[in-house]
Amino acid sequence: TDIFADRRNSQGVNLNINSQHHAFMDKVKSFYGKTWTVGSIVNGKTLTSGTKHQVSMPQNKSVTVGHIHWANESQAKDAINIAHAAFPVWSRTTVESRALMLEKLADLLEQHSHELIALCNMEAGKTLQDGIDEVREAVDFCRYYAQQGRALFAYEGPLPGPTGERNELFNVGKGVFACISPWNFPLAIFLGQIAAALVTGNTVVAKPAEQTGIIAYRTVELALEAGIPADVLHLLPGGGDVGAALSQDPRVIGVCFTGSTQTAKRINMALAEKDGPISTLIAETGGQNAMIVDSTALPEQVVRDVIASAFTSAGQRCSALRVLYVQEDIADRIIELLQGAMKEMVVGDPLDYQTDVGPVIDAAAQQSLNEHIARIRKEGKLIATVPVDESVMASGTFVQPTAVEITSIDQLEKEHFGPILHVIRFKAKHLNDVIDNINATGFGLTLGIHSRNESLAMSIADLVNVGNVYINRNQVGAVVGVQPFGGQGLSGTGPKAGGPHYLTRFITEKTRSNNI
Ligand code: NAD
Ligand code: ALA
Repeated sequence: TDIFADRRNSQGVNLNINSQHHAFMDKVKSFYGKTWTVGSIVNGKTLTSGTKHQVSMPQNKSVTVGHIHWANESQAKDAINIAHAAFPVWSRTTVESRALMLEKLADLLEQHSHELIALCNMEAGKTLQDGIDEVREAVDFCRYYAQQGRALFAYEGPLPGPTGERNELFNVGKGVFACISPWNFPLAIFLGQIAAALVTGNTVVAKPAEQTGIIAYRTVELALEAGIPADVLHLLPGGGDVGAALSQDPRVIGVCFTGSTQTAKRINMALAEKDGPISTLIAETGGQNAMIVDSTALPEQVVRDVIASAFTSAGQRCSALRVLYVQEDIADRIIELLQGAMKEMVVGDPLDYQTDVGPVIDAAAQQSLNEHIARIRKEGKLIATVPVDESVMASGTFVQPTAVEITSIDQLEKEHFGPILHVIRFKAKHLNDVIDNINATGFGLTLGIHSRNESLAMSIADLVNVGNVYINRNQVGAVVGVQPFGGQGLSGTGPKAGGPHYLTRFITEKTRSNNI
């Protein structure tokens, strides 16, 4: 029997239906105006003795969303101590009880979805659609890992052996996991990591990105309300130093990390050098994602999917398209259509239904992206740049979505995490060089292919070393259980989040050979 048959991914909201849209907006807007004050959560208690940081909206820096008290060293020590002490009891609870807590949490997330969408908008500058998708993904992670956890722990031998001997194999959690997450999926990735670690019997100290501590705080509150014991899950908001302290602690047996490749390498080094057991690292990192378009592709379909892949979430997705390779026979047509489509794009308030592209996360990101745009425009040929109203630009950290034609992927130097698309023409006879150049970046996250030549598309999919390939569609928005997500090489260790093997990295196996 198919034990997954009864699980369905969550439903969205159809914002195209006017009545639904207005009712939905009213509920989301009812959460504006409140000023949040949050801090660490250790053993169920909110602690506000750490240094206080103001949080303002990326789209409107004059609006204060709230204040976060970052975790300090003694809170981090206490959290690890308590999580360490809680592990023996938590790891011996049944997987069924842990899974039920995650399912209860998924229900609570759905009940509080308007508030969470409002927070995604206020703290991370997410558009309405991105906020809806974010909550759905978090809900889906909880229910998916609950089900996967039950399946993983259902198997307990027996194994073959001499007559009279009973051999059994079973799974147990490892210990304390540090879950360290980025700001670009402040709810879904933050909670996906935690859910996976908890259902497999580990205790958790969670460190959200410094930019998105309020969403994380509200999520942990809901997790505790769902029944996760206070000594099992702790929250330590703060910067990289808090993440580094967790990675260096000998009692932390595993780190589940999503973020930049550079930080993953630092954590890997800290884990290797610290005292204590050999620790697990699960790292999901950045990409230099390409799309290859051959001359059989349908230009209108290509451009629709390029716009979605490069500019959804203001390009702040690890999966986002950075380099579009177009076979020269259709390059002019694609570029012309791209210019037309970009002319229609609206950059502005992410709560406005008309908005296609909202702000980038903060001033540091804005500056670094603008520096790249200035450099690459000099080196290449501008295709299009989307004008942004002066008043919009002045109010928040916006970047003009930009497309530039260049000649080599090496001109990018690193991942540029924003709404910037690079286009490269290639001759059909040089397709193998294109594939080699993409592979030579060392990243391996997503790849888009547009072609009506199926055997060619399949062979490109085979030859490019990436985790997720998308053919004749956009390359963002992997769905839990449908497109398990994660890369290889500089893009991460795997296994894929939202996939059937993810939980196996959070457990340790034990055998029992019994001759009683
Ligand atoms: P980042 O690496 O700067 O930070 C990620 C997290 O690591 C944050 O919580 C940060 O405080 C923490 N951190 C920083 N230094 C640390 C250290 N020395 N030790 C331990 N923790 C430390 O990344 P970001 O800017 O928050 O996120 C954007 C990046 O995330 C992009 O590179 C993007 O591609 C990547 N990303 C990858 C995936 C994926 O699934 N592959 C998904 C989303 C984002
Ligand atoms: N899972 C996210 C996506 O596919 C990163 O866009």
